[in-house]
Amino acid sequence: MSNLPQTLRQLKFPVIASPLFIISNPKLVIEQCKAGVIGSMPALNARPASQLDEWLAEITETLAAYDRAHPDNPAAPFAINQIVHKSNDRLDHDMEMCVKYKVPMIITSLGAREEINQAAHSYGAVVMHDIINDKFAHKAIEKGADGLIAVATGAGGHAGVKSPFALIQEIREWFDGPVALSGSIANGGAILAAQAMGADFAYIGSAFIATEEARALDAYKQCVVDSTSDDIVYSNLFTGVHGNYLAPSIRNAGLDPENLPQSDPSKMNFGGDAKKSLERHLGLWPGHQRREESGAHGRTGGAPQARVPGSPHAPGAVTKTVIAALRWR
Ligand SMILES: Cc1cc2nc3c(=O)[nH]c(=O)nc-3n(C[C@H](O)[C@H](O)[C@H](O)COP(=O)(O)O)c2cc1C
Repeated sequence: MSNLPQTLRQLKFPVIASPLFIISNPKLVIEQCKAGVIGSMPALNARPASQLDEWLAEITETLAAYDRAHPDNPAAPFAINQIVHKSNDRLDHDMEMCVKYKVPMIITSLGAREEINQAAHSYGAVVMHDIINDKFAHKAIEKGADGLIAVATGAGGHAGVKSPFALIQEIREWFDGPVALSGSIANGGAILAAQAMGADFAYIGSAFIATEEARALDAYKQCVVDSTSDDIVYSNLFTGVHGNYLAPSIRNAGLDPENLPQSDPSKMNFGGDAKKSLERHLGLWPGHQRREESGAHGRTGGAPQARVPGSPHAPGAVTKTVIAALRWR
């Protein structure tokens, strides 16, 4: 076990539920925390930006009430994800909200900035930064992050290509702080393997798409449950950054998953008006009428393991997902 800050000690389960663009929302975060894993959501999921204030109030008040009612079994802390890319014109506002509500953990991705880490540290938050290689890992710690999220091959959404074995070994040669590992982790054996490798936490995303609380179409949830790793396509077409996508959603958008063009990374846009630029690939998912509910970023590298018993979106499915994730195999 590495050198862990107080917030990360004594967690019921060594699991961080990762932020999911469009899909994560306060209800999902609250259920994740109540189920004993660190829940999270991207700040950008609150739209317009002013909604973040309301969402953070809902999460903090609900979890505080839960803790008062369950003093012997309190909820896990929660995290907010900040996209630290230069196109994110909401970053300062969203970080001010995190300071206001003293969000216990900040997950930064797509860029490392010292001011963001300092703002988080001003009230004692832990910053975990996601990286896809050892070079970015060094940079993140130099800029003041407390811990690392190693996004290895097979992770949902934006993902790297490194073997988790290589990535964790390289990081552990010089870093003894908190490390989470992601990439197709969805059962107890994989969580234990991540820890055996040297990670402190498993970072799990796709398995939570198939839950009632997730903001995704039923067809998308079902696709996550039904798909296998053969259905995953690695492409930079949709955001300018390479990520893993479900082939059926690409086919439904009229594209050939095996012959996708390359994108222009200079077109990346994660700002407050990103919704417009997202419309193109949000249209990837079939039959959705409200695009913000479609979750076309969808993929799962861990689909076979991510199956949730029973209906994928039955009531209480977050708890079911956590239980399924913690199964030995
Ligand atoms: C649909 C979807 C949306 C995602 N959105 C974000 C995001 O907004 N911010 C972020 O840092 N990571 C995002 N990710 C990446 C996850 O946080 C995490 O790295 C990944 O889900 C872990 O791999 P797994 O899905 O195989 O468990 C997303 C992943 C998926 C599948």
